[in-house]
Amino acid sequence: MKVIRTVSEMHSYSDSLRAAGKRIALVPTMGFLHEGHLSLMRLGSRHADTVIVSIFVNPIQFGPGEDFEDYPRDWDRDIELIESVGADCVFAPEVEEMYPEGYQTTVSVARISKNLCGMSRPTHFDGVTTVVAKLFAGVKPHCAVFGEKDFQQLMVIKRMTKDMNLDVDIIPGPIVREEDGIAMSSRNTYLTPEERTAARSLSQSLFEARKMVEDGERDAGVLIQHATDRITAEDLGQIDYIKVCSVDTLEDCTVIEGESVMALAVKFGKARLIDNIVLNPH
Ligand code: PAJ
Repeated sequence: MKVIRTVSEMHSYSDSLRAAGKRIALVPTMGFLHEGHLSLMRLGSRHADTVIVSIFVNPIQFGPGEDFEDYPRDWDRDIELIESVGADCVFAPEVEEMYPEGYQTTVSVARISKNLCGMSRPTHFDGVTTVVAKLFAGVKPHCAVFGEKDFQQLMVIKRMTKDMNLDVDIIPGPIVREEDGIAMSSRNTYLTPEERTAARSLSQSLFEARKMVEDGERDAGVLIQHATDRITAEDLGQIDYIKVCSVDTLEDCTVIEGESVMALAVKFGKARLIDNIVLNPH
């Protein structure tokens, strides 16, 4: 499998693929891969001839005091996993390659990046959109796959792609969960066994909310209160937010009228976990 470290080599490789009529899928990641990431690579291979996986722990999407330095890394294992799903190439630039001296341009999506994770991580999505725009420019993919686990990220990237007329199809991939329902995440590795057990309350409260909506509940406040009680009963997690939003605008909704997303972020020690579920009243 090809490993590329520089933008110029990436450009040449993509140009040669495009000249040969190949369709390119990009799967952006920060490494420390799990089944959620691998599912996106498999999805990519159904939409393209060549799958390129990027591994880059992007410093500018971490705020001060966040886990950039400690973010888990395991290069050898990542490469084995990527080879096991048959992806064709890994693009893994160093920080200096992506942000050379003098770098001063940021891509920013105004409104839908402000609610939810944007409230407690005010610079996070600018970091994400900037690096994803640079990855698109570096890899020149026809399509790119993003997980619904990071629902707001997916929506922000869709918005950026549309607003900037970027010629990249954004393909969403469903959330992959552990057997007990916890959404897979590289950050689950931070959890102690007790926190890992308590963290089940996140997905459980979302599944219960979906059931409540199926049974006719339409009051977002009732769903949020139920989830709050469920998660605080575990006593280990600190709730950052639990919200119900319109899927289109990601603005809070009080009554579930159309398709909505219930999203939450809860801190367990240094692990900040996010999860969500789409609620459909019809
Ligand atoms: P990372 O957290 O490594 O996630 C890479 C991709 O995997 C994202 O699209 C994310 O939504 C998806 N993903 C993570 N866990 C998943 C799960 N359990 N099921 C399905 N998909 C899952 O998200 C990032 O990196 C970065 O912000 C990035 C987009 C690479 C920009 O730096």
